[in-house]
Amino acid sequence: MTGSLFAVSDLHTSHAANWRVVDDLRPESSDDWLVVAGDVSDTFGDIERVLRLLRQRYAKVIWTPGNHELWTLQQDPVQLRGEARYHALVRMCQDNDVITPEDEFAVWLGPTGPMTIVPLFQLYDHSWLAPGTKTKKESVEYAYRMGVVCTDEMILHPDPYPDRESWCAARVKESERRLSTLGPDVKTVVVSHWPLVRQPTETLRHPEFAQWCGTTRTADWHTRFRAEVAVYGHLHIPRTTHYDGVRFEEVSLGYPREWSKRAKPRVVPKKVLAGSSAASR
Ligand SMILES: [Fe+2]
Ligand SMILES: [Fe+2]
Repeated sequence: MTGSLFAVSDLHTSHAANWRVVDDLRPESSDDWLVVAGDVSDTFGDIERVLRLLRQRYAKVIWTPGNHELWTLQQDPVQLRGEARYHALVRMCQDNDVITPEDEFAVWLGPTGPMTIVPLFQLYDHSWLAPGTKTKKESVEYAYRMGVVCTDEMILHPDPYPDRESWCAARVKESERRLSTLGPDVKTVVVSHWPLVRQPTETLRHPEFAQWCGTTRTADWHTRFRAEVAVYGHLHIPRTTHYDGVRFEEVSLGYPREWSKRAKPRVVPKKVLAGSSAASR
């Protein structure tokens, strides 16, 4: 029997109400896998607490960072910044048997054949420009004028890179290298905090925020790397869409002020692929 593949993102457990949601999460079967697509929490210790708890409940947990994991907050005893912080998070995950973008790919053996789960950490580079702007400088200035500026500007440090765009370029290159090692028949489930394509950001209330949501460099990855499903979060707009025939799943929980207002009951985590044990019930 194969368990189902579930996915969630943006648990933001620095909010007490979200901690209670996490505490209530249970798999349907002891074989179920869980993908966690970033923004677990804001401090290193809290991120570890959540991932460790989830790993105790799910047969496999696959994590990729969001922007919040990479923040260096003054009150966090772990003051690492940028790439050093990311590598420390990776080591913490490995110590807790959680799979990261640096580990060997896990292969989920579902009823429709094997799926290689690919956690990606690609960041963003301001190439999804604000409306009416032509350069990154113009785009950022426009966002400041509109008063819509991502907190990353203050506390997501790119060290040792000169800026987040350079870190993004390095991450895209490394992710592309890893994806290219997969054979031409390998089907994937691509998991990233930031969406691979820009279209999901078109429903943002503040379109200038899109520049902190992804990069044009990944626009064809869902077809080029044979994604059965592309899982993402960050936008806090949970929904299912299709681009170029590929299913995209935004699986965020979001902040209590967001999920408490949603008309439909929240489905956390989202079952993205059903296993054989689920199908036989
Ligand atoms: Fe988030
Ligand atoms: Fe985010």
